[in-house]
Amino acid sequence: MLGLLVQVNMLHILFFISTLYMIKIGCASMSTITSSQLIKYSETISSSDDAFKLGFFSPVNTTNRYVGIWYLNQSNIIWVANREKPIQDSSGVITISDDNTNLVVLNRHKHVIWSSNVSSNLASSNSNVTAQLQNTGNLILQEDTTGNIIWESFKHPSDAFLPNMIISTNQRTGEKVKYTSWKTPLDPAIGNFSLSLERLNSPEVFVWNQTKPYWRSGPWNGQVLVGLPSRLLYASDILTLSIGRKDNGSIVETTYTLLNSSFFAIATVNSEGKLVYTSWMNGHQVGTTVVQENECDIYGFCGPNGSCDLTNSPICTCLKGFEPRNVDEWNRQNWISGCARKASLQCERVKYNGSELGGKGDGFVKLEMTKIPDFVQQSYLFADACRTECLNNCSCVAYAYDDGIRCLTWSGNLIDIVRFSSGGIDLYIRQAYSELYRDGKRNFTKIIISMGVVGAIIFATASYFLWSWASKYSARRKIEKMLVSSTRQIHPENRNASLIGNVKQVKIEDLPLFEFQKISTATNNFGSPNKIGQGGFGSAYKGELQDGLEIAVKRLSKASGQGLEEFMNEVIVISKLQHRNLVRLLGCCIEGEEKMLVYEYMPNNSLDFYLFDPIKKKILDWQKRLYIIEGISRGLLYLHRDSRLRIIHRDLKPSNILLDGELNPKISDFGMARIFGGSENEGNTRRIVGTYGYMSPEYAMEGLFSEKSDVFSFGVLLLEIISGRKNTSFYNHQALTLLGYTWKLWNEDEVVALIDQEICNADYVGNILRCIHIGLLCVQEIAKERPTMATVVSMLNSEIVKLPHPSQPAFLLSQTEHRADSGQQNNDSNNSVTVTSLQGR
Ligand SMILES: *[C@@H]1O[C@H](CO)[C@@H](O)[C@H](O)[C@H]1NC(C)=O
Ligand SMILES: *[C@@H]1O[C@H](CO)[C@@H](O)[C@H](O)[C@H]1NC(C)=O
Ligand SMILES: *[C@@H]1O[C@H](CO)[C@@H](O)[C@H](O)[C@H]1NC(C)=O
Ligand SMILES: *[C@@H]1O[C@H](CO)[C@@H](O)[C@H](O)[C@H]1NC(C)=O
Ligand SMILES: *[C@@H]1O[C@H](CO)[C@@H](O)[C@H](O)[C@H]1NC(C)=O
Ligand SMILES: *[C@@H]1O[C@H](CO)[C@@H](O)[C@H](O)[C@H]1NC(C)=O
Repeated sequence: MLGLLVQVNMLHILFFISTLYMIKIGCASMSTITSSQLIKYSETISSSDDAFKLGFFSPVNTTNRYVGIWYLNQSNIIWVANREKPIQDSSGVITISDDNTNLVVLNRHKHVIWSSNVSSNLASSNSNVTAQLQNTGNLILQEDTTGNIIWESFKHPSDAFLPNMIISTNQRTGEKVKYTSWKTPLDPAIGNFSLSLERLNSPEVFVWNQTKPYWRSGPWNGQVLVGLPSRLLYASDILTLSIGRKDNGSIVETTYTLLNSSFFAIATVNSEGKLVYTSWMNGHQVGTTVVQENECDIYGFCGPNGSCDLTNSPICTCLKGFEPRNVDEWNRQNWISGCARKASLQCERVKYNGSELGGKGDGFVKLEMTKIPDFVQQSYLFADACRTECLNNCSCVAYAYDDGIRCLTWSGNLIDIVRFSSGGIDLYIRQAYSELYRDGKRNFTKIIISMGVVGAIIFATASYFLWSWASKYSARRKIEKMLVSSTRQIHPENRNASLIGNVKQVKIEDLPLFEFQKISTATNNFGSPNKIGQGGFGSAYKGELQDGLEIAVKRLSKASGQGLEEFMNEVIVISKLQHRNLVRLLGCCIEGEEKMLVYEYMPNNSLDFYLFDPIKKKILDWQKRLYIIEGISRGLLYLHRDSRLRIIHRDLKPSNILLDGELNPKISDFGMARIFGGSENEGNTRRIVGTYGYMSPEYAMEGLFSEKSDVFSFGVLLLEIISGRKNTSFYNHQALTLLGYTWKLWNEDEVVALIDQEICNADYVGNILRCIHIGLLCVQEIAKERPTMATVVSMLNSEIVKLPHPSQPAFLLSQTEHRADSGQQNNDSNNSVTVTSLQGR
């Protein structure tokens, strides 16, 4: 009630102020244009909320006058009438035409220099029309008698795409609503660039440079445009974009709406072809984002069959199995002619030589995290069928699979491929057997090397021990000093449950130290091909020591002081832990600004890599999944009870479960782990770190963590392993989480429906249902009711036969859906470092 009063008063004040203002500048503010009411130079009409104005404006340093609409002020022009025909003096007027059907702009000679061009048969002859500016920024021309809108500026856009505007293309007639750039920032005449909706079978947004594509967004998958880098996908909390069909699918259109009326946003295609997105909150500009950042965003920058990767130097490379079409040009960094296939495909050999003896069959190589190429063909096949379909059709040169669009295939040249460092879609490119075999040989070496891994670890450890005693001694003292200072400086509130007091318990004497030079050599100077992950902590690299031992290196980014605590934490926590289900720290490196952790390398990436991939998940049958569940539970039990220290991991999730050559699960990433002293059971922190979806309610909401918060995460993980789906995915169009969905099925006695189709087999169903039951016990809302890891291990081993009835889990409904996802997208990669902080987002 009080709020309402305040609002009413505010309105009064606003009204009062605006009345004063009008008197001062001595011109009547109008809200409509009619045949008897025209707008002269220096007059405007406003939308009723005053946010938009229509009137004359003149770009700086020119005498050209244009009629336009602007948002808030004349630096945000959203629409221009007489783009090509400026008026040179101040004698122009905006009015309704003599025949009462059109909005027109007249010059001093009363010549029509711009008209809304409504044909007179559209309008009823005996009705006057009125032009009015709506609160959306839309200028409408309306018949007084019928109320019909006969023309609107939103259907004849300039360069600005506003909320509720539409970009559309009619598949049948080819008619397009296009947005066209200004010629220069000071000249609203039609420029070289335009924006439209293309590739209507799986629609994408295109920017054109005259008739050539200049940028594309990648196809719409029902939720996002898949070719946008992940920095843009979830960049905005204030609007939702949608693309849909009308008129039996013949018209495809896109629009966006604001989630909250305090916000406003405008996207424009500027005179350089850049898409610029500006946002306001309560009338104050709060951000500007330029969609295209670099050369890789230019359509087909690396030519046909080339791929653009900004982290490479040079940024263009030929796809695997391809070579530059013109080596000289390519070496001069002229990428235009692109790349051609080296070895002909088997299917082509068969076709041309009419024989099946053309050699071994073709296969696919994977290019991870790409902006997929243009000219995609889409079908509703699932991943497996998609691959087979592509393999069986010689014209098919690549395929990809996305949950939203399903099967994507390509024929001909692959154009406009960009490699992202996170997000994107995995692209499978057809290769001749000889090209695949090249890889095969290397894999074979890898197997030999990994067979010798145990020996190599021992050898490496021993050799690094013997090697350079003296330098190590001083480095070790440095580590110890850093330990002490880091525990003093950072987050003093964590001390009790955290590092301090335990530092002395942990002897780090026997943790090997690596020389910076060695690691640099092993990782090819931290070259981008060696990069295997990126997190808040820094980057992770794969490397190979001189003796052939493969290592994974986490390199703390120099720029962020943020990771230091996690780094030190990890050194302390993990250096003394040894268990077959925990990843092994081989050593660390501290030289100057450099801080690095060296791990054993896990060739099979992390669990999420398999579990949520429609093809790879098939590798994980129920036996393997149970083996992984048991492994994780034993690793956790070791952390909680069996090691000398008691450790809460705090960030258990599929991307932190690494898989070795035999798919043994190994818990990794101890950057957020906390060590408990002898009698403590529970800690409290104001700095809540972790990943949404896996955090227990008491931790996510109150910062309370204990063994039971890990049990909760384990329960979520277990249900994900059984269902093969992420906790945060949608179910049945209801905003249920995996936990909510499981609970619903449990109560309906339908819990079999949760089981991943890939493992649903009558022989195991009883066993799987028991595991789901255990999972539900782990995710119960009340921490005390959840079993300990010791109990969980006994339950899994069927030492405890009768399981208690679970009570309702926490987090039944999904919330902040995309935020939880966006945290993951960046971090899901092998041996990557994940520091997902909820704080300060
Ligand atoms: C209106 O129609 C005339 C003739 O058909 C054309 O020359 C002119 O460009 C059109 N104006 C606009 C603003 O569409
Ligand atoms: C149109 O407007 C003119 C001038 O205001 C007025 O004289 C006339 O009656 C109007 N016609 C109709 C059909 O309302
Ligand atoms: C538009 O393109 C043409 C031809 O490519 C070029 O000559 C012209 O300078 C461009 N105009 C602007 C404003 O960039
Ligand atoms: C809109 O957003 C502002 C700022 O985030 C918030 O204070 C306000 O409550 C929101 N309004 C609605 C209707 O959601
Ligand atoms: C067909 O076979 C001939 C001779 O065996 C070989 O030279 C030619 O390259 C083959 N054609 C293709 C397309 O592989
Ligand atoms: C093979 O693929 C091409 C292009 O994708 C398609 O036009 C053609 O119909 C396919 N052929 C068969 C037999 O499916």
